[in-house]
Amino acid sequence: MASPVKTDLAGPRIDKGLDDVYVKESSICFVDGQRGRLLYRGYDIRDLATHSTFEETAFLLLQGNLPNREELEKAKGDLAASRTLPPSVLRLLRSMPEHAPPMDVLRTAVSYLYNFDPERDDTTRAANLRKAWRLVGRFATIVATYERMRKGQRVVRPDPKLGHAEDFLRMMKGKRPDPVSARMMDVALILYADHAMNASTFAATVAASTLSDLYSTIIAAISTLKGPLHGGAIEAAFEAIERIGRPEGAEEFVLNTLRNKERVFGFGHRVYKTYDPRALILKEFARRLGEVNGDDTYYRIATAIEDTVVRELASRQIYPNVDFYSGLVFHGLGIPKDLFTPLFAVSRIAGWTAQVIEYWEDNRLLRPLDWYVGPKDLVYTPIDERS
Ligand code: ACO
Repeated sequence: MASPVKTDLAGPRIDKGLDDVYVKESSICFVDGQRGRLLYRGYDIRDLATHSTFEETAFLLLQGNLPNREELEKAKGDLAASRTLPPSVLRLLRSMPEHAPPMDVLRTAVSYLYNFDPERDDTTRAANLRKAWRLVGRFATIVATYERMRKGQRVVRPDPKLGHAEDFLRMMKGKRPDPVSARMMDVALILYADHAMNASTFAATVAASTLSDLYSTIIAAISTLKGPLHGGAIEAAFEAIERIGRPEGAEEFVLNTLRNKERVFGFGHRVYKTYDPRALILKEFARRLGEVNGDDTYYRIATAIEDTVVRELASRQIYPNVDFYSGLVFHGLGIPKDLFTPLFAVSRIAGWTAQVIEYWEDNRLLRPLDWYVGPKDLVYTPIDERS
């Protein structure tokens, strides 16, 4: 692997990629990349995936502790109320250009939503926590509602009696999901809810460090999540599986990709140097969905890709990341592929807001340096004298 640190006798150490740079202390999320462990506020992701709900996990990330029964009921009620969008935002969604990518629609809608937040100018921690909760609720409705609008289907209003994940699927599909699908969605939202100082959280933190508002930090995060080296990898990984089409084609696909010095999307991670614990849970969901839906072709292609990548790249510590099997899970739940990355955001909004609010407790402007290597002392040439 090329060293990310460039040193030059005449220049400073350049931390390309910022691999080893710490920008804050945090008590939100711990990632042990060597052992494949992920903790939210000290709780193992596997325990949360087994016992918790997205509402409870979002509360944990934002408030710092697991809620008692009364706190959880209140949080669920607040979240359910937040799922209702202001009518102007519904009008905005209707006015989006045909074929607008859902990720861009989400970014635009969040930007517009800022204008309707009654506490938009209140920068206290308490107000920011309330805004965060409103954003968590609204993200799900924006994504589900836009999906129905673009298909010319009737908009389904949120149902405050349902859990967040279940209601998301209901608003998107127009009918209540079965309990197994609702639970898989819930767990997927738990798994994606935070991941320490990843690229989108860092982008949000940079915006936060200028003392911009919460909504603006989230727009920076959404924009950063979109790229295929980050959240966009879910779609890219799934598209590869679709293109391969049959399990027998997987090995050749991987070998060709590596021969061409290209990336196999859904593999490798800046921090994990072993299996991503989230990928292991999602892999099992993908297997079960293949079984339930009576077609495991994509699952078999995916495991054949995994076998080949691990065989070829394990010595470089490259394993499936969270984005490899999640596309199969979302597909198995009947979600179209251009909603995969927006769905990541529907969950990660909890972590983004928690991280930004934490950063503001001890804010410092993030302002790194670049090392200028261009020319100096050039003489300005009038335009008529330029060749
Ligand atoms: N496929 C093939 N080769 C890979 C992959 C991959 N998925 N990942 C890393 N490598 C190789 C690189 O080509 C590079 O080889 P080289 O040294 O011969 O040039 C070497 O491993 C190191 O690559 P870096 O990009 O420097 O490693 P880094 O630790 O920064 O990689 C990253 C992290 C960007 C995620 C990378 O693994 C990647 O591009 N993966 C594919 C995209 C992806 O799945 N992104 C989602 C990440 S998880 C998330 O955002 C939720």
